[in-house]
Amino acid sequence: MDRMTPVPPPAAEVTGDDAPEPVVPEPVVPELVVDGLTVRFAGLTALDEVGFTVAPGSLHALIGPNGAGKSTCFNVLSGVYRATAGSVRFGDAELTSLAPHRIAALGVARTFQNIALSGRLSTAANLMLGRHRLTRTGFLSAGLRLPAGRREERRHRARVREIAEFVGVDEHLDTPAGALPYGVQKRVELARALCLEPRILLLDEPVAGMNGAERRAMAATLRRVRAGLGLSILLVEHDMDMVARLADEVTVLDFGKRIASGPPAAIQRDPEVIRAYLGTSGAAQAVARTAERTAAQAPADPPRGEGEGRPGS
Ligand SMILES: Nc1ncnc2c1ncn2[C@@H]1O[C@H](COP(=O)(O)OP(=O)(O)OP(=O)(O)O)[C@@H](O)[C@H]1O
Ligand SMILES: [Mg+2]
Repeated sequence: MDRMTPVPPPAAEVTGDDAPEPVVPEPVVPELVVDGLTVRFAGLTALDEVGFTVAPGSLHALIGPNGAGKSTCFNVLSGVYRATAGSVRFGDAELTSLAPHRIAALGVARTFQNIALSGRLSTAANLMLGRHRLTRTGFLSAGLRLPAGRREERRHRARVREIAEFVGVDEHLDTPAGALPYGVQKRVELARALCLEPRILLLDEPVAGMNGAERRAMAATLRRVRAGLGLSILLVEHDMDMVARLADEVTVLDFGKRIASGPPAAIQRDPEVIRAYLGTSGAAQAVARTAERTAAQAPADPPRGEGEGRPGS
């Protein structure tokens, strides 16, 4: 499948069972504007007046050595952490004052750096949980076998299958998520985030721990997700090859501060960025290698994400 069907309307817009199928508008993806974002944990400033803008429909990478504040930024964007100061605007909404479920309801979906699937549940059940905010009758009424609930559940199951096919995990729908290979679980996480019908996807290290072939497959999937759904993606990734190939724009953090931003080619040459990665185990070489590869346009196995960044952090 090259292109997914348009995103169905959110729960509030779903019409009654007897009503004609709603006309589904193209999802409107607003800008995400992070401004002066500061997060302090008892004595430690994890984010220090960070600002960047994710343009509608773009893939924006957030990079930096270990402990730079990338996941903290995601945690604020998704409502898990409270900002000490600053703002995050998504269209008209100010996200810093909203609870996680309200942020999700605006179409902000995320994956976690460490896999957060329910291991005993099947892939299909994990994906259905991802659709929870879109349910109107609730799966309880489906469980009670009420007709409206059953019809709605069927529609959601069909959509889950479609998304699973799109991400390439449909053959694993009946398998407990915990029994799947690590690389497949990372794809299931992506599928679960897509089940929320997001307008922006926050992906925290989606290829960490994967081998070269898995990484290339995931990069291709992300390209198709973006092209097929027109959503924005904010990507945290240590894999410089992947960042160079996918990102329109890159923001670099170091010790909680934004030290550079711009297109990938400029970032790879930025002396501040190279300095930030110097002294880290292999990441500086990874930056340099990627710059050479990108210049040569030669496909190559990307470096592994693990072990990059400051040792001991
Ligand atoms: N809940 C917390 N309490 C205290 N300190 C925290 C908390 N969360 C993060 N930190 C600290 O904030 C800093 C930034 O951490 P963060 O996890 O955002 O880094 P990161 O850029 O995602 O790193 P990595 O590449 O290793 O995932 C680190 O010094 C970390 O120890
Ligand atoms: Mg992190």
